[in-house]
Amino acid sequence: MDKVWKMGLVGLGGSHRSAAYMHHPQISVTAICDPDSDTLGKTGDELGISDCARYDNYADFLNADIDFVMIGSPVPYHAEQTLAALEAGKHVLCEVTAASSVEDCFRIADAVERSGLTYMMAENTVYFHFLQEWKRMMREGRLGTVFYAECEYVHEIRDRIMNPATGAVYWRNERPPLHYCSHSLGPILEMIDDRIVRATGSGKSQTIVPHGGPGCIDMQVALFETAKGVTIKLLRSSVAARLPAIGHYSLYGSKGQLENGRLGYDSDGWMYVEGEPECEKGAIPLPCPIIDPTAPEEATKGGHGTSEYYLIRDFIDALDRSVAPPIDVYRAMEYTLPGLIAQEAVEKGGVWLDVPQVR
Ligand SMILES: NC(=O)c1ccc[n+]([C@@H]2O[C@H](COP(=O)([O-])OP(=O)(O)OC[C@H]3O[C@@H](n4cnc5c(N)ncnc54)[C@H](O)[C@@H]3O)[C@@H](O)[C@H]2O)c1
Repeated sequence: MDKVWKMGLVGLGGSHRSAAYMHHPQISVTAICDPDSDTLGKTGDELGISDCARYDNYADFLNADIDFVMIGSPVPYHAEQTLAALEAGKHVLCEVTAASSVEDCFRIADAVERSGLTYMMAENTVYFHFLQEWKRMMREGRLGTVFYAECEYVHEIRDRIMNPATGAVYWRNERPPLHYCSHSLGPILEMIDDRIVRATGSGKSQTIVPHGGPGCIDMQVALFETAKGVTIKLLRSSVAARLPAIGHYSLYGSKGQLENGRLGYDSDGWMYVEGEPECEKGAIPLPCPIIDPTAPEEATKGGHGTSEYYLIRDFIDALDRSVAPPIDVYRAMEYTLPGLIAQEAVEKGGVWLDVPQVR
């Protein structure tokens, strides 16, 4: 019989992502942790967690009967909670991004190496159905050699940065837009099987929420160069007025170009491939569903198409087989570090900086 893995959830919040995780037949939630007593009580009741397995203290929670910790707390806590979990002998599945500083990225990588435990970063966009399809196309060489890519993640979440009624600020107030780069870079790096070696960035203006912190910078753009020589442009904002939000990807290869739509992740895009009969007259419409039509009904419970369903399957599979998961600690840092370095480049006046290599 397949092993059932005991999951401890920390940071319960408003997220529905873990709903898909809990649906996995090999997962049993055995402990939960959150400093907010209302959230702890509500989630505990929903999940049927006994009072003695509900923790407001993380150190106590790590002593509970759990095999792995799903870290869903705010990003500023990710590094310390990851390190403590590994120290306590627990595997880790951590929300995006892995850490807020270069030093912490390296501390986590070292700790995973020393512990021999499994670490995965829960970057769900990589698992969007159309991006998995695109990855297959790239592997088949249909676009030829990719030399340029663009990605945009512009998602207005002012009310999750600052309370509109009271003006109280949340953790995202201190988080520059470029630090949240993994939704954009992750899928592109997977498609081109590459890593970023240099970065620069621009964007400091604050006209929309002038009294906020760096999280309220109007918009930032970064340019990256990869080890294979691909140029990537990334655009990020958490405050710019745009509805619907955009999660956009565009790639240019030696044989063609493709992109998803500009009205939400799964809006139809375009594709042109030189020499393919259906593109004889130019680009053709390209459906970009985030739901895999072949997945079972429960696969959409995570709320981002079928992405969480496949993500947790890969994590449990890695635990079962004691192998590295697809977004292992090195890949996690390759999704996280470029944004930290691009922000450093912005602060230094738009210089180009090397991105430290974690492997
Ligand atoms: N992958 C995605 O699509 C996606 C979407 C949204 C958020 N996220 C990630 O999920 C994480 C949480 O984001 P959120 O918007 O739910 O945050 P949030 O501010 O709503 O906080 C989540 C929960 O963490 C709890 N918390 C606060 N401090 C804590 C601590 N020290 N230890 C444990 N729990 C603590 C809060 O009480 C809350 O219940 C972040 O890493 C974020 O980047 C990912």
